[in-house]
Parts: sequence; C-alpha cells; structure tokens
Amino acid sequence: MMSSSQGCIRGTIVERYCLNKPSSSRQTWHIVIDITGGHLPFRPGDSIGVWPKNPEEIVRELIRYFHLLPTTTIIDPRTQQTALLRTYLEEVVDLNRVSSRFVELIGQTAMSHENRQEICAAVAADRSFEGYDVLDFLRTFAPGGVAFEDVSSGFLPIIPRLYSISSGPTRSVNCIDLTVGRVQYECDGRLRLGLCSNYLISAPPHAASLRLFHQPSSHFAFPTTSDTPLVMIGSGTGVAPFRAYMQEVEMGAITPPPCWLFFGEQQRTTDFFYEEFWNAQVAAGRLRLDLAFSQDQEHKIYVQHRMWERRSELWQWLDDGAAILVCGNAKKMAKDVDACLANIGVSEGSLSPEAALRFLRQLRHQGRYIRDVY
Ligand SMILES: Cc1cc2nc3c(=O)[nH]c(=O)nc-3n(C[C@H](O)[C@H](O)[C@H](O)COP(=O)(O)OP(=O)(O)OC[C@H]3O[C@@H](n4cnc5c(N)ncnc54)[C@H](O)[C@@H]3O)c2cc1C
Ligand SMILES: NC(=O)c1ccc[n+]([C@@H]2O[C@H](COP(=O)([O-])OP(=O)(O)OC[C@H]3O[C@@H](n4cnc5c(N)ncnc54)[C@H](OP(=O)(O)O)[C@@H]3O)[C@@H](O)[C@H]2O)c1
Repeated sequence: MMSSSQGCIRGTIVERYCLNKPSSSRQTWHIVIDITGGHLPFRPGDSIGVWPKNPEEIVRELIRYFHLLPTTTIIDPRTQQTALLRTYLEEVVDLNRVSSRFVELIGQTAMSHENRQEICAAVAADRSFEGYDVLDFLRTFAPGGVAFEDVSSGFLPIIPRLYSISSGPTRSVNCIDLTVGRVQYECDGRLRLGLCSNYLISAPPHAASLRLFHQPSSHFAFPTTSDTPLVMIGSGTGVAPFRAYMQEVEMGAITPPPCWLFFGEQQRTTDFFYEEFWNAQVAAGRLRLDLAFSQDQEHKIYVQHRMWERRSELWQWLDDGAAILVCGNAKKMAKDVDACLANIGVSEGSLSPEAALRFLRQLRHQGRYIRDVY
C-alpha cells in the first residue's frame, strides 16, 4: 500500500523473482511494487526514483562500533537537525562509500599511529578506498574505535537511484514493474554490493515501505502517432521501457506503428528475459524481434552486430521516418550503437562519414534518435 505527498510516494514490494535461470552469471530481478493510491500518471519511458536504505546488519554493527544506542539522538552535520542514530545511519548517509573527507578524518583521529601514517600516505598519494565500505574501513584503519561526532561530517549522503518502469499504466495503475540488475563486483579482493539494487532485491516483500518518486521522462518519449515506425534497441535491463510500451500496445492503449526490437543479453538459455512476452508480441504481428546473445558463441555478438546484419532494412525504416530509441549501458552499448548507425548511413545512404554524423545529429534534433542510457 502507499501514500503520496509532495512527490514522495510510498510503495511495497508485492512480487519479486530473478529473471535469469540459476546457472546464469548474472542476476536481474523482476520487482512488482504496489503503489495503490499513488495516482501516478506515468507513461512508457518514465522512471521511478528509489531512496535506498543501508542494510540493517551493517547499521547494527556500526552502532556497536561507535558504542552508542540505536536511540541515541545525534545532530546531522549537514542540516544541523537532530535525528535518531539508527534512522540516520539507515536512511540518510551512504555507508557503501568512503569519501576522501572521511579518510582524512580517520587519519586525524585514528588511535593507531601505524594506521594513521598509512592513511596519510594514501591520502597524499590520492589513493581511493573503493574496495571498502564505511564499516570495513573503520574496522581496518581504526580498530580501536573513533567517536561518531569526530567523523560524521565525512559521511556521504544517500542519493536516490532511477529505474525505468517496465510495465504499462493501462495494465495496472496500482502496481509498477521494475527490471533491476544486481550490482555485485570485486574490488581489492573484497565483494562490493551496489546499494540500491541490493536494497530492492533484499527488502522484505509486503513489509518494507519503500520511499519512491516519479521521474517523468522529458526526453525519452515514444512516438505518439502510428505513422512513425519505431526501432527499439535495448541490452540487459535497457529493455525495461520497451516492455512498458509493448504492454500498452498489447492492451490496445496505443495504436502501434511498425515496431522492431533489438535485444541483447549474455545467453539465450539463461538470460532471455520476458521471453514469453516477446514471443507473444511477435506471434500477434505486433513486433519484429532481433536477438543478440553475446556469449552463445566464441565471438561476441551484440545488438549493433544484428543491426549491421539488417542494415539495408534498417536504412529503409529510417527512410520511412522511423524513430530510434536506445536504452541501457551508456559506456559500451550506446556508444557502439551510435557508431553502428553512422556506419549504416555511410554504407546504405552513401553518406560521407561526416555527413553520416550530421544525419544522426539531425535525427536527434527531430526527436527521432533518443536515448536513455546509464
Ligand atoms: C534514467 C535511468 C534509468 C535506469 N534504469 C535502470 C533499470 O531499469 N534497471 C537497472 O538495473 N538500472 C537502471 N538504472 C541504473 C540505476 O539507477 C543504478 O545506477 C544501478 O542500479 C546501480 O545502483 P546501486 O545503488 O545498486 O549501485 P551503487 O552503490 O551506486 O554502485 C554502482 C557503482 O559501483 C561501481 N561498479 C559497478 N560495477 C562495477 C564493476 N564491475 N567494477 C568496478 N566498479 C563497479 C561503479 O562505480 C558504479 O557507479 C537507470 C539509471 C538511469 C539514470
Ligand atoms: N543484470 C545484471 O545481472 C548485472 C550484474 C552486475 C552488474 N550489472 C550492472 O548493471 C548495469 C546494467 O547492466 P545490464 O544488466 O543492463 O546489462 P549490461 O551489463 O549492459 O549487459 C547486457 C548485454 O550487453 C552486452 N554488451 C557488453 N558490451 C557491449 C557493447 N559494447 N555493445 C553492445 N552490447 C554490449 C553484454 O555482453 P557481455 O557481458 O557478454 O560482454 C550483455 O550481453 C551495468 O552497469 C552493469 O555493469 C548488471
């Protein structure tokens, strides 16, 4: 259940399952959030902002480390407001990341002379402590303890994360779906977990009250007429807004243009999210689908390789006025898709490389080439 005031929405997770089969190397979760009463006038392409909380066990351990009580009243150095220590450590500061200010403060206050020297040397060398979260850092470099008020000004604030809504409003106004990739990696030999993705994956269903907000997309807008053919390019979780759009099409809320989706993931047997849904759209004649499973063969096949294979038809679609929407990884996929589109302009449109870049710029100006990448 939820309530909404001044842009803040409260929601509850009512369903959650992993979209990958067990032998996958990845975890991407389908999460259904009850927003009953939220009056969320969302559209495909919009996102939800989530305010994560730090894990309870980390907060408990940290309170113990500071030799304080959960109910101790502290002063938030950023706002000068009072707060309960537990609430402050759970909801206000990001315990996942160590700021350089925090490192400096520990350097000034740590009991152990040996560690103080190590920290000062690291700060001087501009060495980051990316492998550490706050508790890890304190236990390693200030095992003798420090006072909360001596280091509290070094905490970083929690910032919300955005997630594309992967369901359509016509299917349900009371629930939204998210498609969340679990961030988990190793750094300096330590396991690091993304704060918000892991919060969403571990928050108790039907119990935890999530703090959310609606982030309408000003730029990532789907065509509103059925005259504009739609090419959707999404790898991994980037497929989320396209599911929302196709759900609207399926529900008859949108008179669809010709729709074409390029979807990429690692392996077909384990990572083909929403396979039944996509196959149903294809079977109903609502969607053309091209798939790129990067790890199903020795060499990588990505969405842009499939686009290149279909370059002549893609160019024809562009000639017919198609809009291109790209969603997903910014650093790798979106960059390479952009280069691929320019190459298609050269190959199929007989454009010079400079003219192909101008053509893409023009598409962007016309709102026919838009991206939501992260
Ligand atoms: C408009 C928009 C829509 C989005 N939609 C979605 C969506 O639908 N689904 C989705 O899953 N995400 C989506 N995201 C991304 C999402 O907002 C978060 O950034 C993501 O979930 C990570 O947040 P986190 O709190 O779990 O990780 P954080 O605690 O923020 O940690 C992430 C950081 O960890 C580091 N990191 C991550 N992986 C590695 C690695 N392998 N090696 C070293 N360092 C690493 C990087 O510094 C990275 O910035 C979207 C982002 C935007 C801007
Ligand atoms: N979903 C998860 O389980 C998961 C897990 C950990 C972290 N994350 C993080 O969450 C964010 C979003 O991840 P995501 O799940 O949406 O997917 P992603 O990591 O972007 O991967 C989706 C697909 O894109 C492929 N890819 C890699 N480089 C590419 C390129 N240059 N061009 C085109 N495709 C390329 C990947 O192939 P290859 O991987 O085979 O190269 C994979 O098949 C990323 O920052 C990611 O690091 C997600």
